[in-house]
Amino acid sequence: MGAERKATAQARTDTPVTRPALGAVAGAGPEADALELDRLIHERVRLGIVSALAVNGRLPFTDLRELLGTTDGNLSAHARRLEDAGYLWCHKSFDGRVPRTEYELTARGRQALRGYLDHMQAIVAATRVGWTEQNSGSIFFHGNSMTQSTRASGVGLHVGIIMDGNGRWAKARGRPREWGHRQGARTVRTVVEAAPEMGIRTLTLYAFSQDNWQRPSREVRALMGLFRRYLRSETPRLLENGVRLRVIGRRDRLAVDLVEAIDRAEAETAACARLDLRLAVDYSSRDAMVRAARAAAACDTLDRVDFEVHLARAIHAGEDALPEVDLLVRTGGEQRLSDFLLWECAYAELVFTPRMWPDFESRDLAAAIREFHGRHRRFGAVAAAG
Ligand code: FPP
Repeated sequence: MGAERKATAQARTDTPVTRPALGAVAGAGPEADALELDRLIHERVRLGIVSALAVNGRLPFTDLRELLGTTDGNLSAHARRLEDAGYLWCHKSFDGRVPRTEYELTARGRQALRGYLDHMQAIVAATRVGWTEQNSGSIFFHGNSMTQSTRASGVGLHVGIIMDGNGRWAKARGRPREWGHRQGARTVRTVVEAAPEMGIRTLTLYAFSQDNWQRPSREVRALMGLFRRYLRSETPRLLENGVRLRVIGRRDRLAVDLVEAIDRAEAETAACARLDLRLAVDYSSRDAMVRAARAAAACDTLDRVDFEVHLARAIHAGEDALPEVDLLVRTGGEQRLSDFLLWECAYAELVFTPRMWPDFESRDLAAAIREFHGRHRRFGAVAAAG
């Protein structure tokens, strides 16, 4: 978004929108309820616009009005709010002498809609496992920005796991460290298959850090071999379970055949939508931030959302910014982040368990999630009264 447009957008969002009162409905107070109902109706109009464009591509104003079955004279005002938020492009032209307005969803709008739909899907999943309304949060647009993460919702979680303890687990059994990693790969399967039923929508596993290159070459070779085998043997299971696999991190230091295996697994599972699995391989959060900052340096109107797109590109996550981490679990008894998702963990809840990764079971993951749900997340604000 150019500086001028951004400034106009800011000015518009700073001006309160005057909306007609809709009358009282039963509840906490007539005025508050009327405002709430009013807010929902207006937000649904904007959701309708965005959804219609996602399905239909570029749409003239008249078609949009017909599609939404609305006589709402404010349709263009809603579209303008979405345009100001960077979700829509508005193309103005002439059809002969008749002015013509067409709308189109931007990449950012598409991403926000995807986030919204994931959120809805997560609510359905959470309802299935019996979580309460109180965890479900708002599913509507907030002002002129749509919810892009599961922030404060308690559902559709992004869980990150630092899978620590393989080496110690193997040593304690008189076996080489590589053996511990092989057992750890089994735990990966267990956790991936259990995650969706627990309301997890994104699971990021720390499989190999940039600093792990310093390990003995035998161990590095064994780990790379395990990744190759995992990609080859697990892809059919991932497909069966609706798991989309992506590998985040640098690829230029990985063997060519491993990169090819990653590309293949990513392409084959691209349409899966039950769980977004990200394996962090040759990953360093600080390195990703430096590379994103370098790419962003040319952009003088950079904001947090733009930076997150650069960050996603820096780690091969495509155009989708990594959602904020809700819960970070580290096994193996250590209590540190080790250069993992530092930006995305800004408000993550941290759970450390002494359990070594090869011993970690789905009930341990369930326990971590229960602990997460018992925490009060305030994101720097104060707790709501009442
Ligand atoms: C840290 O434990 C673990 C790793 C560096 C590797 C993680 C790899 C796996 C869990 C297996 C392979 C994964 C996939 C996705 C197939 P550590 O060995 O440093 O433990 P320690 O602290 O006991 O030495």
